[in-house]
Amino acid sequence: THPIRIAPSILAADFSKLGQEVRDVVDAGADWIHLDVMDGHFVPNITFGPDVIKSLRRYTDATFDCHLMISPADPFLEAFAKAGCDILTVHAEAGPHLHRSLQTVRSLGKKAGVSLNPATPESAIEYVLDQLDLILVMTVNPGFGGQKFIDATAEKIRRIKAMIGDRPIEIEVDGGIAPETAAIATGAGANVLVAGSAIFKGGSVEAYRSAIEAIRAP
Ligand code: DX5
Ligand code: ZN
Repeated sequence: THPIRIAPSILAADFSKLGQEVRDVVDAGADWIHLDVMDGHFVPNITFGPDVIKSLRRYTDATFDCHLMISPADPFLEAFAKAGCDILTVHAEAGPHLHRSLQTVRSLGKKAGVSLNPATPESAIEYVLDQLDLILVMTVNPGFGGQKFIDATAEKIRRIKAMIGDRPIEIEVDGGIAPETAAIATGAGANVLVAGSAIFKGGSVEAYRSAIEAIRAP
């Protein structure tokens, strides 16, 4: 079984000093950096792309966990791989050829993740389990930080945990994660906890550290 990992989402960080924010949150105990890429098409918001990620790469050696909320994703996978992402997660809803997208990610030498929107059933990934390193269960509708955790997702996490059996796949949750909801998610079988507003609202390394600790051991 995998360790609990905390992956702060820099979507909630101060965009005017992202490099420093990444460094601070890693100093504060973050395991991974979660990078929310949005295209204004798959989701109703726009964030940043591979050039920004590439420029952040020199601030830390921490795992870059890239959540691609873009459609199509395939034409951009190579650029995100070259930018220094370690994990590339595509949405199951973002295109008709999920299997091909996952094959492409692995052929680029990166870990392959798939994300499921709240309304998407776990059966969408039943036939790609052997192509996967990570499953990202959205616990809010993607597009914005600061939303409320959707309780029905706990049951989906439990079903996914049972479905993956002894495959070494990590289960990540994203959206509305704070100490209380982190406990629900880990109790259901998740081990990677993304949190944006719950961590970055503090605005200092000390505040980031106590928020990370509270989420890790609720
Ligand atoms: C939402 C993003 C999340 C977001 C989470 O589309 O995928 O990673 O930053 O933000 P919080 O933790 O504030 O719900
Ligand atoms: Zn995300």
